Amino acid sequence: MKAARLHAFRSPLRIDEVSDPQPGAGEVLVRLSHAGVNPIDVRLRDGGAGRVELPFVPGCDGVGHADSGPVVVYGAGLGLRRPGTYAERVAVPAKGVVRLPQGVDPVHAAGVGLAGVTAWALVGREVTAADRVLVLGASGGVGTLAVQLARSAGATVWAHASDPADAEHLGAERVIACDAAGLRDAVRELEPTVVLDGLGGAFTGAAVTAVAGGGRVTVFGVSAGGRGEIDYATLYRKSVTLRGHASLAMPAADVRDALVGCLELLAGGQVRVVIDDVLPLAAVNEAHERLVTRRATGKLVLAI
Ligand SMILES: NC(=O)c1ccc[n+]([C@@H]2O[C@H](COP(=O)([O-])OP(=O)(O)OC[C@H]3O[C@@H](n4cnc5c(N)ncnc54)[C@H](OP(=O)(O)O)[C@@H]3O)[C@@H](O)[C@H]2O)c1
Repeated sequence: MKAARLHAFRSPLRIDEVSDPQPGAGEVLVRLSHAGVNPIDVRLRDGGAGRVELPFVPGCDGVGHADSGPVVVYGAGLGLRRPGTYAERVAVPAKGVVRLPQGVDPVHAAGVGLAGVTAWALVGREVTAADRVLVLGASGGVGTLAVQLARSAGATVWAHASDPADAEHLGAERVIACDAAGLRDAVRELEPTVVLDGLGGAFTGAAVTAVAGGGRVTVFGVSAGGRGEIDYATLYRKSVTLRGHASLAMPAADVRDALVGCLELLAGGQVRVVIDDVLPLAAVNEAHERLVTRRATGKLVLAI
């Protein structure tokens, strides 16, 4: 079968002819039609997501056919601790396999693995109908879904994106575009009770300043930088809760529930996955480049 494999860290992937995976006990063989592209794949390529044995097949999520029918795969170490979905076939532990609901476009389903589970977990834990939510990085794979899920939870939602046009169609009450220094003024009218922060960098400190007293800021990504300053006095005087979220640290049962939940909303038309582009597997390095250079809105998907 064909697979896109990493042969050396910080190097492009190569399309190789390799032997089919042999599923072990409790594993399912899936013939993939599509794979999602996620920032963690690029981090893994660059050696920043654990030292895997090379050559290695990345890819955390995807869609394909098992003997039982069409399925979505995500989790169980796929593309991180075991060969992933950038391949024609993959062996997946049964806990990482979920039925693809009827009527859901496989391309869209390929965009909900890691991104969908993360958005679901963030919104499920932090957001109630009473909340005023600010989503930073709202044009990304996670952000586009987080805005919609927070809306469907009944919250008031504002979206932040570099280009408002990238987030205007998601149902947020308002879309703002500003740098970290301008965040507080830009959201003064909202006075968010919850900030979902996929940006980090200077944005996290700005979010702590901008959030309402007693509010919650959850950092789930550092697309704008892994370091920044936080005014501790503001943090404690306003009684702000600052926490992190990592989907990779979620219990397998919660991951499965989140994935099933997202797919149900997708099937019911309550949320939609924003697909930027579908590229062939052979263009995997171009897909990574587009992600790194911020030339994608929503999800990039590989057609296997
Ligand atoms: N914690 C978890 O479990 C988890 C799970 C999935 C992802 N993540 C992380 O969460 C983040 C978002 O993931 P994703 O899949 O949504 O990634 P993505 O599709 O690449 O989206 C990234 C978003 O960040 C924005 N952005 C990037 N660099 C920026 C900068 N310097 N200043 C302002 N905005 C910037 C992009 O907006 P533009 O339109 O302006 O480019 C885009 O909206 C990533 O850091 C990823 O590693 C974490």
